[in-house]
Amino acid sequence: MKTTEPTCLTPTPDGIAQAADLLRTGALVAFPTETVYGLGADARNGRAVATVFEAKGRPSFNPLIVHVHDATQARRFCHWSDSAEKLATAFWPGPVSLVLPLREEHGLSSLVTAGLPTVALRVPAHPAARALLRAFDGPVAAPSANPSGKISPTTARHVAEGLGTKVAAILDDGPCSVGLESTIVGLDAAPCLLRPGGLPAEEIERVLGQTLSRATEGKISAPGQLVSHYAPDGHVRLNATSAQAGEVLLGFGHMDCDLNLSRDGDLTEAASALFESLHQLDATGKAIAVAPIPQHGLGAAINDRLRRAAAPRP
Ligand code: TXA
Ligand code: MG
Repeated sequence: MKTTEPTCLTPTPDGIAQAADLLRTGALVAFPTETVYGLGADARNGRAVATVFEAKGRPSFNPLIVHVHDATQARRFCHWSDSAEKLATAFWPGPVSLVLPLREEHGLSSLVTAGLPTVALRVPAHPAARALLRAFDGPVAAPSANPSGKISPTTARHVAEGLGTKVAAILDDGPCSVGLESTIVGLDAAPCLLRPGGLPAEEIERVLGQTLSRATEGKISAPGQLVSHYAPDGHVRLNATSAQAGEVLLGFGHMDCDLNLSRDGDLTEAASALFESLHQLDATGKAIAVAPIPQHGLGAAINDRLRRAAAPRP
């Protein structure tokens, strides 16, 4: 395992070229996407992908999302479908990942898919991610760039604090705009919402013209859906209207609190502030109480992350 501090790169042509070169050597490069920072590795290089699991302390049964520059590249790795075409046309590049049947000659490390017959594919919209994927010109496996089970990173500082010397370089382009991981849609059978995320399920259903089935509780179809996840070090209490002794309050809408996700009750603003707020409040060393968040639109994904942050730890 690497022990030197990560190189800090900026998304200049030179910084992007250096990041792509590092990926080619099998090194790990953290990079911004519009959802969260990803921990990138060449998805065809088994040794590089193994380092991702090691750096995150991630169980090897939990597959990674493969990031590509465009839908044409995505199609090289999977069996495409009409639904995939509809969603890719409507939402790529953007905060949605599609799970599709893996092609026979895919060339990906089997660690990426954890041996499953399917692969999760994503075309991110962030300009630095797009520049890196264009320069690298290959598939990049990238989970969120945080230690497994901890709060996801929405700034380069979060990545440095969580993974430090385990990454070769961090491509820093400021805070992520969406702030929640991509929505994951299973398209290997009837369209299914595997993980709520940065694209509201309602928008996906509108484009598909059908309701998404929901992944059944308990069955690990998207193993990041482990019950305790995104967890601060301190205890988290949900649906709080005021802080109790030893707690800090994370608010929503007009209320007295230590930090507010959105005073105006705007769910997009709340999503983009969620992980940074949890990082900040966790640093106080106190327990975190969180105000109720409406369940519609991005609220569904915010509440999903909060429930997992509050779940009993294994
Ligand atoms: O926004 C995102 O999706 C970020 C950025 C970096 O792209 N990535 C991310 O990766 O959230 P990660 O590893 O933290 O979450 C990936 C999720 C996991 O829950 C994993 O189980 C699921 O994707 N997944 C990957 N391949 C899958 C597959 N073939 N079938 C079902 N779920 C899959
Ligand atoms: Mg993650």
